[in-house]
Amino acid sequence: HSSSFSSSTASPADCSIIGAGVIGLAIARRLASAGLSVTIYDKGTPGSEASFAAGGMLCPRLEFKKGSRLSQMGEISLQLYPDYAGELEEETGLSIDLRLDGVISPLDPAETGGGEPGDNTARLIDVDALRDLEPGINHGITRALYYEEEGSVDNRALTRALEAACRGLGVEIRSDCEVLDVLVEDDRISGIRTSTGDFSSPIVINSAGSWAAKIGGTVEKVEIRPIKGQMLLLDCKDNEDEIPRHTIYSHSTYLVPRGDGRVIVGTTVEDKGFDKEVDPAAIKNLLQSAAEMFPFLEKVPPRESWAGLRPMGEQNIPTIGALSPRGYYAAVGHYRNGILLTPLTQELLAREILGESV
Ligand code: GLY
Repeated sequence: HSSSFSSSTASPADCSIIGAGVIGLAIARRLASAGLSVTIYDKGTPGSEASFAAGGMLCPRLEFKKGSRLSQMGEISLQLYPDYAGELEEETGLSIDLRLDGVISPLDPAETGGGEPGDNTARLIDVDALRDLEPGINHGITRALYYEEEGSVDNRALTRALEAACRGLGVEIRSDCEVLDVLVEDDRISGIRTSTGDFSSPIVINSAGSWAAKIGGTVEKVEIRPIKGQMLLLDCKDNEDEIPRHTIYSHSTYLVPRGDGRVIVGTTVEDKGFDKEVDPAAIKNLLQSAAEMFPFLEKVPPRESWAGLRPMGEQNIPTIGALSPRGYYAAVGHYRNGILLTPLTQELLAREILGESV
């Protein structure tokens, strides 16, 4: 007698998804809406890694090189966001706090504001316009680039909403269930081997984020490694005039406002394997950079600090699509922009799997 589930005792699903982060959850929801039976396996708790750690910035023009494939992907995904958010909110009754009221990138006095770092999609704004938009900004900052259609989404709320939507559609989510191997029979996918037994399904999707390269089996490998980012959360209730109203993005530091006077501050970019330790000196540095832009923030003690792992793929490009053998797919390597690229990734992969035309 075995207490573990196995393919002989559990009914097979059409599709097994490895990793219940935003990417896995979004794809699960899409495939389940199309009528597939889907099970998601997570080694821990759904949405507790990069999806939880992210800032939720939706800033393709600041994140990607103009004209690059990633920049096009980012633009398309950003355009999908309003409908995507609207449908998800309606389906679940949960708000995901989508804000597309612009991102502000302060310029140093020496920066010209023409050519890089901005481009013609950003508007150069002067001190009056800047104060109007951001009354609490350091008075030494007199010019900025304003990316009017960009913004942010509350990534934790997005993850919770996707999880609720999945459950509502009958997607089974198995927490604390680590996928060890992808199983192959007769040159095609037959299921997965997990810490609690084997499960059969003709389709397996690897959306395991930073852990994607650890999935075993005689299947095509994905090259992914974790890049650490440290972040903090400030709680600035009742100081609406002193804190950022828009996402503020300056070189390596960004500030992302949420509801209720909360502000997310990021980030570091560190190549340290799976280490998620928070270094107080790094947090202090981030807070200092934040306070250089919004002096009020200097007095606010961090309410929370954390580190997350960005899943970085080869050449920093995500892998989205079929791998070998037949039935195996991946949606991995979104690095700094998994939240931004979620709607597009879901669509690209689901259409490939469902055989729809893109
Ligand atoms: N999206 C910014 C970051 O990865 O920190």
